[in-house]
Amino acid sequence: MATINDSYLKLKAGYLFPEIARRVNAFAQANPDASIIKLGIGDVTEPLPEACRTAMIKAVEDMGDRSSFKGYGPEQGYSWLREKIATQDFQARGCEIEPGEIFISDGSKCDTGNILDIFGSNNTIAVTDPVYPVYVDTNVMAGNTGPVNDAGEFEGLVYLPISAANNFTAAIPSQKVDLIYLCFPNNPTGATASKDYLKTWVDYANSHGSIILFDAAYEAFITDPDLPHSIYEIEGAKNCAIEFRSFSKNAGFTGTRCALTVVPKTLTGKAADGSDVELWKLWNRRQSTKFNGVSYIVQRGAEAVYSEAGQAQVKALVSFYLENATIIREQLTKAGLTVYGGINAPYIWLKTPNELSSWDFFDKLLQTTNIVGTPGSGFGAAGEGYFRISAFNSRDNVNEAMKRILEKFKV
Ligand code: MLT
Repeated sequence: MATINDSYLKLKAGYLFPEIARRVNAFAQANPDASIIKLGIGDVTEPLPEACRTAMIKAVEDMGDRSSFKGYGPEQGYSWLREKIATQDFQARGCEIEPGEIFISDGSKCDTGNILDIFGSNNTIAVTDPVYPVYVDTNVMAGNTGPVNDAGEFEGLVYLPISAANNFTAAIPSQKVDLIYLCFPNNPTGATASKDYLKTWVDYANSHGSIILFDAAYEAFITDPDLPHSIYEIEGAKNCAIEFRSFSKNAGFTGTRCALTVVPKTLTGKAADGSDVELWKLWNRRQSTKFNGVSYIVQRGAEAVYSEAGQAQVKALVSFYLENATIIREQLTKAGLTVYGGINAPYIWLKTPNELSSWDFFDKLLQTTNIVGTPGSGFGAAGEGYFRISAFNSRDNVNEAMKRILEKFKV
């Protein structure tokens, strides 16, 4: 009989968000009249920017004419999109990223998991705690960890605790780690990182030969001009960092699917024979073999983000969600809750009231207000006693959700 990848058996039963959906569906079935408001998964609700839709409609027309029809595209993405990204997202900020170092993909979630294909199985891997669960689960699947303990920590991973005490920014580890996942603006805590802080990581990585896996999926939510949008704004980062970005949260592409990963050609890793190998070559090989690119239509939609109209529309969309975040922060504070994040970030991280566990608060909130959030413990052991509220929803739903919370929880 065929054997399985036993590493999957080490995982918790379900991935966090489907598990939440399962509980919410069960509640909805038992309470068909409940008007449920979902502020759990960070899924966008507002329509795609007009510039993107117009470009995608035109691209559909291109596909209807033999002269402009497109079959397989380049596995790395079309050059017209990679060039705009290089110029407007990176070079405009002083980052020397070339189009050839950018790989278009169908999602940062996929890429942060897939990137493990090019790394060895003997690396020491550091994650923050709490953390976006994909980083941990994909390492478990890849066999990079031992079993999980009662606290929910996997043997073999280095957990870097983040809390209000360190502004949700992990301290540099005392030991040597080879791969480090950093996410700013942070999912789940909504924390941000200064240039000085990121510089300490870049210096650490360069002095230890480590690679930083930098998830910048939420960079568009940064409005503070002093905060870096890219790790490549930090000197030396091109020698130690891979960056992941997405069109999901800025341009509303969660259902449309388009993202990008930057692998600078200056990055290397060690082969078993001790030689240095360019990571770009490995990722290019991996993508060429396992991926056939994002559809032409979607890439045309993503390209439109960089037009003048697209830039204005994306800015308006991001501002809309940030205003939601401000409302949530203010109202939860008014309700007497302790809140973090929600500034330069679409997530609000709150301390559960009365020492409730994260899942107990989830149940209480769902049952008493019909509002769905995400239990902090789902992001790691150190997230226990915390809860995440997403700002991705309509204004009416956000206002209604906050009204219900104020009614039930105001102290
Ligand atoms: C989240 O809610 O953490 C995000 O939606 C996850 C993701 O983007 O995959």
